[in-house]
Formats: sequence, C-alpha cells, structure tokens
Amino acid sequence: MKRAVTGFPVTAEVVHRFVAGETRADLAPVVGELLASGRMVSVDFLGEYTTERFMADDAVAEYLALIDDLARRRTEAAVRPGAGVVASVEVSVKLSALGQSLGAAGPEIAAENLRTLCARAEQAGVWITVDAEDHTTTEGTESTVRRIRRDHPWLAVATQTYLRRAEQRCRAAAAEGARIRLCKGAYREPDSVAFQRSAEVDESYLRCLEALMGGAGYPMVATHDPVMIAAAQHMAAEHGREPGDFEFQMLYGIRILEQRRLTEAGHAVRVYVPYGTQWYGYLMRRLAERPANLGFFLRALAERR
Ligand code: FDA
Repeated sequence: MKRAVTGFPVTAEVVHRFVAGETRADLAPVVGELLASGRMVSVDFLGEYTTERFMADDAVAEYLALIDDLARRRTEAAVRPGAGVVASVEVSVKLSALGQSLGAAGPEIAAENLRTLCARAEQAGVWITVDAEDHTTTEGTESTVRRIRRDHPWLAVATQTYLRRAEQRCRAAAAEGARIRLCKGAYREPDSVAFQRSAEVDESYLRCLEALMGGAGYPMVATHDPVMIAAAQHMAAEHGREPGDFEFQMLYGIRILEQRRLTEAGHAVRVYVPYGTQWYGYLMRRLAERPANLGFFLRALAERR
C-alpha cells in the first residue's frame, strides 16, 4: 500500500505536502524554511505502535537526537510575549510511543522516558508538548504531565474539546498557569465521553478558549477553523493579551496562506511537523479515525500555496 501511495504522482504529493520526510535529514530543510519565515515548529517523530520495550527505547533515542538537532536551529522567537520566553522549537510526543501501553508497568516506563526527554529539552531550550490520544489514555497522560510539570513547568499537554470534561480541565489548567494546546480532537469517541455533533464541539472549544484566555497560562490555539481563530483574537484582546501571550498552531501543509497571514500580522504561529517512516499510519489513521478528515486533507490540497 505504501509503495502504491508514493507511486502515484497525486498521492505522492499528498504525502509530501503533509509529512516532512522519513529522516531527520529530510526534516532539516523544512524546519529551516519555517523558522526563516518567522513561524515556529513542533516536530512529531512518527514512531511505530509500541508493543515492545526496545521500541520505546528507540523512540527515546530518536527524540534525544531530534532535540539536539532542533537546539542548533533554535531562533529567537519571532514574537516576544509579555511573560516569559517562548521557545521557537518544540517536540510533540505521544506517551504511547514512549511505552505507555506496555502492560502494567507501561505508564511508569512512559513517565520515566518523558522525564529523560524533559531533562535534555530543558538544557537545550526546546519545549515539549504531549499529544492527546484516545480517551482511555487521557487521565493517565494528564496525571503524568501534572507530576512532571512540578520539575519542568513549561511541559504542556493537548486537550481535546470534544471531550465532555474539557472545560473543567481547561479551568484547572488556567488556574495553574499551565501551557496548554487546545484542539477539537481527532479520534472517534463514544457519546458517553465525547460530544458527537460538531456544533457542540465548537461551543466547547469557545468555552475552553475563554477559560484559557482569561487565565494565567499560555494558550496554544491549535485549529484551522476561521471562526475559532477570529474568536481567539477577540478574546485575547478582551483579556489584554498581546500577540505572543498566546500562539496559533496548525498542521504542516494545511492553510499555509493563513499561517503566513497570521505571522505577518504579528501573531506567534507554530507549525506541527510530522516526520518518520511511519507517515503512512499518520495519514491513514487520520482518515480512518474520522472520515471527515478526508475532506480536510483534500481541501488543503486544493488550496494554493
Ligand atoms: P475542522 O476540521 O473542524 O474545520 C473547521 C473549519 O476550518 C472548516 O469548516 C473550514 O472552514 C476550515 N478549514 C479546515 N481545514 C481547512 C483547509 N485546509 N483549508 C481551508 N479551510 C479549512 N488531535 C488530537 O486528538 N490530539 C492532538 O494531540 C492533536 N494535536 C494537534 C496539533 C495541532 C497543531 C493541530 C492543528 C491539530 C491537532 N489535532 C490533535 C487535530 C485536531 O484535533 C483536529 O482533528 C484537526 O485540527 C481538525 O480540526 P480544526 O479545528 O482544524 O477544524
């Protein structure tokens, strides 16, 4: 399937449009170009589904090398926030890749691995955000991040607004002054835990945004939705936040013109850049988990650069 996808010019274009390449060498020029344009990056290493301890160890080794590479490319953040310094380079990590699902010991293995990455990232001036995965992992992931934030307060986690408890989580994060990535959520989840209608997910996004913008933390507004982007700008102004006291985030290859427009308007914009040999899973999972994502990718392809 992978050979077939890369063999057709149209589908090969889809892959290259949304994934930076298979190796750190492929990634380097992509990161260089994004930083040179004033945008910031969050790089995701697309690992295999981790079923053995050695796979988690390999993921840690790759992330340590990635953190060192990014540290060499670090630029001054394009926008200086009112409080603290924003790292222009960040890595995004899934706890499942670090071993979270390796049986009963999995959560502790993943937590130890995340600590190892945080120690190196802190020395290097690189940030880390932990991705949100399916709802069965949410509690465990959030409690791991809360524990490690005691030593590394810049460590962030993503919150999915389709989850019914997202607003409550955002209120807590806002009170703690945490850095938090707000996204709608990409997994298919049951009604018992998640809103099913997109209007409800959007309303939840707006409530979460209001809580975060009014709080003490650093909101990271991860969306391509023009309604959410406009609302974020409006709420930020109402709460006296300068551009750079919060940031916008979009996926690599999606709404490139909007990324540039926001950057030129003085906003902090970070692009989430995936790379690795497991890109096939990244693209296919997004389509399989939520068929609406097919339209999402096709729309991005139709958009001129
Ligand atoms: P959505 O797909 O709802 O689209 C809303 C509107 O946006 C559209 O109707 C259209 O107007 C506009 N739009 C969207 N795409 C467009 C395009 N290509 N061109 C023009 N207009 C377009 N998920 C998760 O579960 N865990 C995670 O950790 C993360 N992390 C993450 C990081 C970052 C940086 C981003 C941007 C996203 C994630 N996500 C994620 C994915 C996220 O949850 C969600 O699935 C997608 O971002 C799609 O939702 P949107 O909010 O972008 O808009």
